This record gives sequence, structure tokens and C-alpha cells, in this order.
Amino acid sequence: MTTHWLHGWRLTGLIALLLSLMTLGIIGAHDFSVDGLRAAIRATARTSLLLFLPVFAASALVRLQPNDATRWLRRNRRYLGVSFAASHILHSFAIIAFAAVAPDLFWSMTNTSTLISGGLAYLFILAMAATSFDAAMRWLGARNWRALHWAGSWYIAISFIITNAKRTPGMPLYWLAVTLTLAVILLRLFDWWQRRRKLVNAPA
Ligand code: HEM
Repeated sequence: MTTHWLHGWRLTGLIALLLSLMTLGIIGAHDFSVDGLRAAIRATARTSLLLFLPVFAASALVRLQPNDATRWLRRNRRYLGVSFAASHILHSFAIIAFAAVAPDLFWSMTNTSTLISGGLAYLFILAMAATSFDAAMRWLGARNWRALHWAGSWYIAISFIITNAKRTPGMPLYWLAVTLTLAVILLRLFDWWQRRRKLVNAPA
């Protein structure tokens, strides 16, 4: 697995390139219309979730089920995390274009509290991406780095649950996204409980 070419920053670069092409392709396929921008917003929200969930699950997965695949995931967690940030930056570009092209429709679908809660998620995403490089990690210190990435990833997980759950009345398929996110949360809680139990039972 380590000798495989698809890992590290190359993985991030390839995913970011594919996501950018996907976003442009979707907008182009809709003749650069508002519908195209909205389709791109939805598509990038989905690719973001698909990238975020394995990153959020990586440490728990490798402890509970150590094998080549989970070890690969754990090693590439940082690079997939930055790929998630790239996906969500494309989400924001499409949102900004949508708000500029169709402001009335944009404001009919969003409000100030969504902008604040979503904006906070973006602050976390940018801060986490910026501190995913060795020099920035050293500058921040291990304890601060862990606190930032812990708080940010839980905030983003909860944001995904809320944003998808809001859409379930119109389309029950959104329950799939909610259920997958909850499943990863349960996995992390189970892993935390297992570690805590081992610590308590460890000989003094
Ligand atoms: C200020 C920040 C944000 C704004 C203004 C915003 C705006 C939007 C809009 C307008 C849509 C609907 C597009 C449409 O159906 O036409 C959308 C979809 C969505 N957004 Fe965002 N968003 C923001 C941040 C976020 C964040 C932080 C997350 C998750 C971490 C997120 C997750 C989603 C999801 C899951 C969807 C539904 C995608 C689907 O239909 O499958 N958004 N967003």
C-alpha cells in the first residue's frame, strides 16, 4: 500500500482537480444558468460529505479494525481532509456566484442565522486546512492543534446532520446522509468508550 502512487499531496491534487472539473462540467452542462450553480452547490455538498466521513472515522476505524485499507486511510487522513476543504471551497464559490446572479432566490433559501452558522463552519474548515502542514502544526503546538481539529470536525459533522435533515421532508433520500453521519459518530463514541474501558481496567 505504501508504494502505491495514490497517496499524500498527489491524492489531494488529483481530487481537487477532479472536483473542479466536475463543478465546471455541471455548471457548463446547464448553460451557466442559475440551475447549474444550484446543481453545483448540491454536488459539492455531497462530495464534501463523502470526503469528510472517512476522515472523521479514520482513527476509530484503524483502532477497531486494523488492516491495509484502514491504515491507508489513517495515513492519508490529512490529505483527504484538505481535499474535503477544497470541495467545500468550491461549494462556497458556487454559493457566491448564485447569490450574485440570483440574489432574491438566494435570500429566499437562506437567512442570517444560516450565514453565521455556515460561516463558522467555514472558519473551522479554513483553519483546519491551514494547519494541515507540518510547519503550521509545529507553530500551533500539539495540544492546540488537537483542540482545533476536534472542535472543528464535530462542528462540521453536526452541520452536515442539520443541513441534510432540513431537506428530508422534501426528499427522504437525505436520511441516507443523516444516517451515515450518525453511524460515524456512533463508531467514534464506541471507540472512545473502548479506549476508556481499557484505561480503567489497565493494571496500576
Ligand atoms: C454560509 C455558508 C453556506 C451557505 C450560504 C450555503 C448555502 C447553500 C444553499 C443555497 C444550498 C441549496 C442549493 C440548492 O438546492 O439550490 C446548500 C446546500 C447544501 N449545503 Fe450549503 N451553504 C453553506 C455552508 C454549508 C456547510 C458548512 C455545510 C456542511 C458542513 C453545507 C452543507 C450543505 C448540504 C448538505 C446541502 C444540500 C446538498 C444536497 O442537496 O444534496 N453547507 N447550501
